[in-house]
Amino acid sequence: MNLFDVYPVNDVAIVKAKGSYVWDDKGEQYLDLYGGHAVISIGHTHPHWVQRIEEQLKKIAFYSNSIKIPLQQELAAKLGKLSGKDDYQLFLCNSGAEANENALKLASFHNGRKKVVAFSKAFHGRTSLAVSVTDNKNYIAPVNETDNVIFLPFNDEQALEDAFKKDGKNISSVIVEGIQGVGGINVAGEGFLKKVRSLCDAHGAVYIADSVQCGYGRSGKFFSHDFAGVKADIYTMAKGMGNGFPVAGLIIAPHIRPKHFQLGTTFGGNHLACAAALAVLEVLEEEKLLGNAVMVGKFLRESLFEIPQITNVRGRGLMIGFDVPEELKDLKKNLLLNQKIFTGEARPNVIRLLPSLALKKRDAEDFIEALKEEIAALVGPEEVNDEAVAEPAE
Ligand SMILES: Cc1ncc(COP(=O)(O)O)c(C=O)c1O
Repeated sequence: MNLFDVYPVNDVAIVKAKGSYVWDDKGEQYLDLYGGHAVISIGHTHPHWVQRIEEQLKKIAFYSNSIKIPLQQELAAKLGKLSGKDDYQLFLCNSGAEANENALKLASFHNGRKKVVAFSKAFHGRTSLAVSVTDNKNYIAPVNETDNVIFLPFNDEQALEDAFKKDGKNISSVIVEGIQGVGGINVAGEGFLKKVRSLCDAHGAVYIADSVQCGYGRSGKFFSHDFAGVKADIYTMAKGMGNGFPVAGLIIAPHIRPKHFQLGTTFGGNHLACAAALAVLEVLEEEKLLGNAVMVGKFLRESLFEIPQITNVRGRGLMIGFDVPEELKDLKKNLLLNQKIFTGEARPNVIRLLPSLALKKRDAEDFIEALKEEIAALVGPEEVNDEAVAEPAE
């Protein structure tokens, strides 16, 4: 049987991983600044995470949600404490798309409405409703097409006001990433998110903060939406939540009340998933990884700003994107081939850095040196060392 070929893949087979490093089947070591797409939050095979999962595996790996699973309550308590959302409620599922699917559905159950506001370049996942609020025609099958979604330009407060003025009583929810990931690392403005909050309040709509990629400490705050100083009604989480163990969830504001059977899941919140998610939170807290993300992220952004060929450095914490001109279009590939460094990309010509939140400054320094070397190889060395004067945009 062949694999169903849905992705172009790098010709590398990774067989071992530790911290911010991975090794291929030939023993070659790579620095991982991609984290398997923002998933590795506390570092590959972190010993505490491995131990927690191993111990749980020996006791019980799975039972369905038809019984009490005290680990879920333990996870909810820890998550409430670390995210500052103690009074919210937790629903567990398995992937980012599923989290958003449930969030959109729950909002619609809550206010009985059908329309959703979403934004240009958004990505919210591949399941049916999640993909219909994703602004990429290539992902939307005919069966997913709907008139219920109002797409607006990202960060456009006026367009948001106009949409609510026109259709406010039909809008069920607004779904927005705190930092667009797949869209190329675009930070949602604080004024924009405050506007989402105030319009949702005024019109009885639900503010859904898609934190699947930008959440869980990646931005330096638990949710990057927190930078705006307002609370969302639902936060969706996935990638960094299990450090590679598939686990996802929604945290839901107290005024949204649960009703039996509206949401459900077979695998969501199983014992093993909870153990993995708890291990992640324990390490985030113990090793103060949000602070590390702020510190190493700042160093990376400031260093990137000094490289003249790189433009428009964006992001927060360890969620960073920058544009590379056409002449550097091979940069990502060359970083992997020549320097053995994994980075992410977003087309056209955006490189994304989504490393573990435990990335060491020394590794970040090595990356900057390697990056300069590869740029020099593509454009010539004298161009690279020019001092550029620019300020980080945060
Ligand atoms: C912001 C955002 N939401 C949702 C998803 C979908 O997550 P998953 O692939 O776990 O379904 C992604 C995945 O990249 C994402 O970046």
